[in-house]
Amino acid sequence: MAHVKSFYLTTPIYYVNDAPHIGHAYTTVAGDVLTRWHRQRGESVWFLTGTDEHGQKVMRTAEQNNAAPQDWVDRLVAEAWKPNWSALNIANNDFIRTTEPRHTERVQKFLQSLKDSGHIYAGKYEGPYCVGCEEFKLPGDLIDADGEKLCPIHSKPVEIVNENNWFFKLSAFAQPLIDLYKNNPEACQPESARNEVLSFLEGGVSDLSISRSTFDWGIPVPWDTDQVVYVWFDALLNYATAVGLTDDPDSEGGKKFAQTWPADVHLVGKDILRFHAVIWPAMLMAAGLATPRKVFAHGWLLVGGEKMSKSKLTGIAPSDITDHFGVDAFRYYFLRAIPFGSDGSFSWEDMGARYTSELANDFGNLASRLAAMIEKYCGGVIPAVHHDTGLVEALTTTVATADKAMVALDFQTGIVATMDFCKKVNGYVTEKQPWILAKDPANKVELEEVLYNTAESLRALAVLLHPVMPATTEILWDSLGAQATLGPIGAQKVSEIAQWGQLPEGAIVTKTPVLFPRLEIKE
Ligand code: MSP
Repeated sequence: MAHVKSFYLTTPIYYVNDAPHIGHAYTTVAGDVLTRWHRQRGESVWFLTGTDEHGQKVMRTAEQNNAAPQDWVDRLVAEAWKPNWSALNIANNDFIRTTEPRHTERVQKFLQSLKDSGHIYAGKYEGPYCVGCEEFKLPGDLIDADGEKLCPIHSKPVEIVNENNWFFKLSAFAQPLIDLYKNNPEACQPESARNEVLSFLEGGVSDLSISRSTFDWGIPVPWDTDQVVYVWFDALLNYATAVGLTDDPDSEGGKKFAQTWPADVHLVGKDILRFHAVIWPAMLMAAGLATPRKVFAHGWLLVGGEKMSKSKLTGIAPSDITDHFGVDAFRYYFLRAIPFGSDGSFSWEDMGARYTSELANDFGNLASRLAAMIEKYCGGVIPAVHHDTGLVEALTTTVATADKAMVALDFQTGIVATMDFCKKVNGYVTEKQPWILAKDPANKVELEEVLYNTAESLRALAVLLHPVMPATTEILWDSLGAQATLGPIGAQKVSEIAQWGQLPEGAIVTKTPVLFPRLEIKE
């Protein structure tokens, strides 16, 4: 039987040297919003996130904390990573850890097959290495500070590695990769990322050392157990090991692989673009596997003009923000404020301003005013179905714009289109003045028309915003009586949002709790 290919999206697997900060949350929330959107399009979806647990960076942090590496990663995953994702309402289908046997065993099998097919050879590596990046650096990559060579990302000295290692014939794939990106611009986005990768490839690519022999926190190279697999070679494979890479096609893992591979989107920050757009597809090509349909590199959250990071002590924990603004405002803010693909600075002031004007005033107030008016003027039930041509047309355009933008990972355009529709509905209410109409019983039909059209617009807004703000829109959905009459909000299809007249007459409206409460002044 033919299988249905799932829309398969991954986030990077994050290093567990520390707890997550808002940079990690930015990527994970974006992945969650996109996969929720695809689910609402009625697609089968597979959303993977996880943790990258091997390598020197994690090993040294464990040592500094007097912990064995396995204990350290177990604790951080259980106490920091998984709880943060559930607090942010991340609906991932799977969570992979690179210390799990399902990963380590498949990595070994994959590596052995590359060796057997002649893509791996013994060599010697001598050169600079940044443990923060876990990356072999080229001399031109480094910055010179008083004679000392620093990694430009971590502003820390690099170390010199001098080892006999196993090498992957990466250079053999430079031309096939150039052809891939030239013939298929979708495979690396945005445009600036694709250009960067192409010019990197055109500058020439060397073979890659894929093992290390001076420490043992990693997956043993199957034919040479004095060496461990280079952490990036290990980590990149997670995207495929998590869905059954190397398993027999008739086994459960093999079937899962056929259903998910190739990945539709690898979502990454631009810091790790080359790993994903050069090394990873080359590994897949060497194994005769399909390359990912899209690698999308988003920009950085900046603090003081630099990439926010824990190692520079500029990391902000998601809870610092969600304690004040709530989870849904957090999910909304970064995707709304920063074009996906560009860098952006976080500021409390900007977030506070958008929270108040867009979420509390434009959206939250509309919902509470409508519920209060339905209660007061219609006995708490939705009146007869009506249409307003202006709103119907605006909604049709909004849904088309939002859908096109969201599937292209242009979250900002999708959200702005939706919030513009919200503004239009507010304008409609202000213009029609239902509170004036209510003063004269002769206006009953007109009053009910205004209230129906407003309620129906909120029905559509709830669905459009559900992937971005799942909890708040569910409260609104329930308050509109939609849960009881139309079923769960998550089951509403994007393609049907613009069909006007779905909220049925007689649905029972209840007052919402305030969706976006007034902010406490932050001390
Ligand atoms: N373990 C590797 C990834 C392996 S994937 C096969 C790694 N981990 S990381 O913990 O350093 O996470 C890097 C990712 O976190 C970035 O690519 C990005 O998705 C996210 N971010 C970390 N800091 C960020 C910002 N300051 N701004 C935006 N995203 C950030 O690299």
